[in-house]
Amino acid sequence: MTEKELKKLEEKLKKSGPLPRHVAVIMDGNGRWAKKRKLPRVAGHRAGIKGVREVVKGCGALGVEYLTLYTFSTENWSRPKTEISALMAFLRGTLKRERDELDSNNVRLSAIGRIRDLPAPVREELSRSIDYLAGNTGLNLILALSYSGRTEIMDAVRRIAREVHAGDLRPGRVTEAVLRSRFYRGDVPDPDLLIRTSGEMRISNFLLWQIAYSELWVTDTLWPDFRRKHLYEAIGEFQKRDRRFGGVKAAKGSH
Ligand code: IPE
Ligand code: IPE
Ligand code: MG
Repeated sequence: MTEKELKKLEEKLKKSGPLPRHVAVIMDGNGRWAKKRKLPRVAGHRAGIKGVREVVKGCGALGVEYLTLYTFSTENWSRPKTEISALMAFLRGTLKRERDELDSNNVRLSAIGRIRDLPAPVREELSRSIDYLAGNTGLNLILALSYSGRTEIMDAVRRIAREVHAGDLRPGRVTEAVLRSRFYRGDVPDPDLLIRTSGEMRISNFLLWQIAYSELWVTDTLWPDFRRKHLYEAIGEFQKRDRRFGGVKAAKGSH
């Protein structure tokens, strides 16, 4: 698709209906992309940066407020040491290299997950980028790093238990809103649209609480091949969905 065609599609999507406020992506299939080319798995991770650039650009152009990218799961620590260290080194380099490009796109950055489990050099580069981009006002890019949906819920439950034990919170006051506010980013609205690449029909421990009513869209496209046209296809599909939230018909403006 040419730049002009993409612009036209953007205008159409903006006009034709509700846009998701929050898009979440399970970026999967890097390994398979590399395998098809007889390359090491890490070459797939490297090629995946293209997909990241595209989805950031597309969400920014459409005025999506939040984009959460599943970058590394808690379970991914069980991968071979060589893959993990190559991935961490790549992550560190990427955080540094992409900083100016993100800045010129007015992107703000944050991270969710057990950030303390990341190697110190990655943590440092991450916080440098977060600080550097803190003044921006466009898309909120959220990287899920060493992330597990179950751990997020467990950590919040443990915090609440401590507060109750200390007498700072009454058990009857533990509402959904209280639980949510103890998550990594309790201030972020739930994803409206969840995209997964590479055809797997599963959630893999991503944002378990937050996706209760997200619209799901799965594509066979492998993450390194993901482009703006795929994002726009997903959003076009999203606009056709009837979000009932358990009701009988979509309430006006329920998107
Ligand atoms: C997703 O690609 C990236 C991470 C999980 C870090 P994979 O590495 O899972 O690629 P496949 O699923 O093996 O193809
Ligand atoms: C999910 O992909 C995690 C990320 C994209 C970071 P995985 O490749 O780890 O998930 P499974 O193993 O297919 O469930
Ligand atoms: Mg995978």
